[in-house]
Amino acid sequence: MFTPLLLIATLGQLNAELIFAQVWFRHGARAPTVFGRFPSESKDFGVSFPYEKGELTKEGKMMEYELGKRFREEFKGFISNEYVPHENRIFIDEDNRTSDSAALMLAGLYPPSESQIWNPELLWNPIPLHEDNIMVKAGMGIADTCPKIGDEVMKRPAFWNILERYPTVVEQFERLSGVEISLPKNLSDVLDEYYTRYKLGDSRLPAASWLTDKMAERIREIETNITTQFFKIPEVMDSIGAWHTTRLIDEIDVVLNQPTNKRRKFVFFSGHDTNLLILGIRLGLPGCGEHFCDFGGSLAIELHNETNNFYLKFFYSNYYKNPREEVISKLCGHPCSLTKFKLLFSNPRIDEVTFWRKCKYPIMMENGNENTILIVTLFVIIVGLIMTNIFSCFKLRRKQKSRSSTIDMDETEPLMFKGEI
Ligand SMILES: *[C@@H]1O[C@H](CO)[C@@H](O)[C@H](O)[C@H]1NC(C)=O
Ligand SMILES: *[C@@H]1O[C@H](CO)[C@@H](O)[C@H](O)[C@H]1NC(C)=O
Ligand SMILES: *[C@@H]1O[C@H](CO)[C@@H](O)[C@H](O)[C@H]1NC(C)=O
Ligand SMILES: *[C@@H]1O[C@H](CO)[C@@H](O)[C@H](O)[C@H]1NC(C)=O
Repeated sequence: MFTPLLLIATLGQLNAELIFAQVWFRHGARAPTVFGRFPSESKDFGVSFPYEKGELTKEGKMMEYELGKRFREEFKGFISNEYVPHENRIFIDEDNRTSDSAALMLAGLYPPSESQIWNPELLWNPIPLHEDNIMVKAGMGIADTCPKIGDEVMKRPAFWNILERYPTVVEQFERLSGVEISLPKNLSDVLDEYYTRYKLGDSRLPAASWLTDKMAERIREIETNITTQFFKIPEVMDSIGAWHTTRLIDEIDVVLNQPTNKRRKFVFFSGHDTNLLILGIRLGLPGCGEHFCDFGGSLAIELHNETNNFYLKFFYSNYYKNPREEVISKLCGHPCSLTKFKLLFSNPRIDEVTFWRKCKYPIMMENGNENTILIVTLFVIIVGLIMTNIFSCFKLRRKQKSRSSTIDMDETEPLMFKGEI
């Protein structure tokens, strides 16, 4: 009974045509992002390490370039032979390493064709990058940089339970690093520093001598676990998590409304392991939603057209070197039609405007023209003056009160003393 269905599905796949791909990928090997040196370490620790915080290393650069070459192979038959501007759109965020990674990946993806070579000594073509700074919010830092979300998240027991699951780990790493670990992000930052040094294998910023391969793996697993627990807090999943799927759906709608001869083929998101993890969790993708990927990991979401029926396919690779493999969404199943995908992931709809509204408290009336600014400034000055007045009266009273109590003390103490004798 199952066979005919399976056959249809297989045949369908053969006739389906890839029309659009969105590819999220992680940057290459990088320097540590937060500490560089722990409080417990000597002042000259790591001083000869040449990279600034969070920047790609030489090895990391090579990884992204190789990743671009691999993408070119994997999209053979779909990707144009040469770079065509309207077919591509590339997003980065505010972290330098995401723009560096995008530029390097694109150098591998689109080496200039013969007619595009403008300098025979440099086989490279400039390709525009666009910033989308919501991408960087996928992470525990969102509780700091989005105060409105942070306030809600901290009301959740699930947030405080994150550290409670690892009492020994917290205690040990506080002792080792000299960093006070009071919030999940602190643990994540400390663990990440140790793990990054281990991955670097650079004697100028040496890994801890006690750190075995097995321990490094465990550190990474704890990092994955605490981040996953954080992502599953409703205020996080329904803001930054939902933003990822809204983004996917909106990009698809753009493409389906474009004339075939002017259609976009690729959207690239040069981001972080956290972007892939939260997408994997939200879409129910094995592998991708279960572990942090390594450097140059990627998730491709492909749109296929089979006689005007549209399907989505997911391909995951956990490392720049590893070829991608198709993964089936546990939520959307196989085949995953665009209609079903939209039903599952359209709500809540978190576009750019909605995201920022959830992220930050309003500062001022939206159309902050000069008059409003003037009124607000005057208001602040007046309130300030009133407060200063009230405060100085209050201080005067306190001063008098405290002086009298000092006198009291001076007088009673010798008396009490006398009485006891
Ligand atoms: C790299 O990032 C740092 C820290 O955000 C910033 O100060 C610096 O200007 C960035 N460099 C470039 C070239 O954008
Ligand atoms: C712990 O994390 C919080 C929130 O990110 C941060 O403000 C604080 O500085 C961190 N503490 C340490 C010791 O790094
Ligand atoms: C991570 O979470 C999984 C699933 O909850 C659990 O089985 C595993 O033991 C955890 N690992 C660590 C190191 O805490
Ligand atoms: C989908 O494929 C059909 C042919 O099977 C074609 O007529 C139609 O234009 C395609 N639609 C898009 C959006 O590419």
